[in-house]
Amino acid sequence: MSLPRHVRLVEVSPRDGLQNEPQPVSLETKLGLIERLAQARIKEIEVTGFVHPRWVPQLADASALCQALPLDSTVRYSALVPNEKGMHKALECGKLRRVAVFTAASEAFTRKNINCGIEESLQRFEPVIAMAQAAGLPVRGYISCVLGCPYEGDVPVSRVREVSERLLAMGCDELSLGDTVGVGTPEQARAMYRAVRQVADAPQLALHFHDTYGQAVANLYACLHEGAEVIDASVAGLGGCPYASGASGNVATEDVVYLLDGLGISHGVDLNRLAACGQWISQQLGRENASRAGRALVG
Ligand code: HMG
Ligand code: MG
Repeated sequence: MSLPRHVRLVEVSPRDGLQNEPQPVSLETKLGLIERLAQARIKEIEVTGFVHPRWVPQLADASALCQALPLDSTVRYSALVPNEKGMHKALECGKLRRVAVFTAASEAFTRKNINCGIEESLQRFEPVIAMAQAAGLPVRGYISCVLGCPYEGDVPVSRVREVSERLLAMGCDELSLGDTVGVGTPEQARAMYRAVRQVADAPQLALHFHDTYGQAVANLYACLHEGAEVIDASVAGLGGCPYASGASGNVATEDVVYLLDGLGISHGVDLNRLAACGQWISQQLGRENASRAGRALVG
């Protein structure tokens, strides 16, 4: 399979990147991040999650944040919604152009993360997807632990494919395959991607790799050779999941853009502005910038 000509980048830093930050991040800083991402010509941004504030305190301002988002028709804002309650809140703000439900290929992780099993989670999504469709919003379906689970260890590829098929049949127009703990390696990622491609087309299938073991860019490279066209990433490599202990941030968007440039794959992003954004948010959070390309560029 040859490399794709273009890759669609989905920026998840305001949600996945910030959800694990121990100190509250101000609304102003979150909006500053989103504004700078848009200035770097990022076209899709997952801005928050309408989850229970007790489970993820950092996203307690989801409604306020969405209400304050600038009306920018060039950027598609999306948010996580775990259930009908979250969906009502997401619809109220009127700024979102996509919502995302989330489950996993691991039973144990699903229970820790959303307090129910995989089957029950899918049942919960039915009315959520119906509400989104009635409002004309497309729905992404996340599947976590596609390359391993912090509680169950190995996760069979057949289970990832099965959950993928179910989410597509329920009406998700896009899936995002999460290596939540960042444990996968390239040949494993390639085999998993290949298996899911049996039930989904490349434009429907995002890769969402965390970088705990430093394999995320290599894993993406392997999947690009399988024709992958959609990549989730987080500026400055921010992030982690509160329910996957030890998991570090998503692959850094700057590193992905640098990789794509090297491969001659178009993406539409302004790398220098993106690197400046990564440096800015790292300073705001008092963190070291986790993007290697970003650090090299801002020197
Ligand atoms: P639950 O406790 O089972 O919910 O939580 P419940 O339905 O039993 O309701 C209990 C109470 O919560 C009720 O309030 C509800 O109204 C309230 P009470 O009557 O007791 O006053 N409630 C809510 N409040 C606000 N917003 C809501 C909501 N729903 C119910 N949406 C629930 C279930 C799903 C809500 C909870 O487990 C939760 O919020 N989990 C969020 C977990 C999360 O956000 N994890 C991180 C994101 S996933 C991730 O990072 C992976 C990903 O990046 C991909 C990858 O890397 O693999 C996506
Ligand atoms: Mg994630």
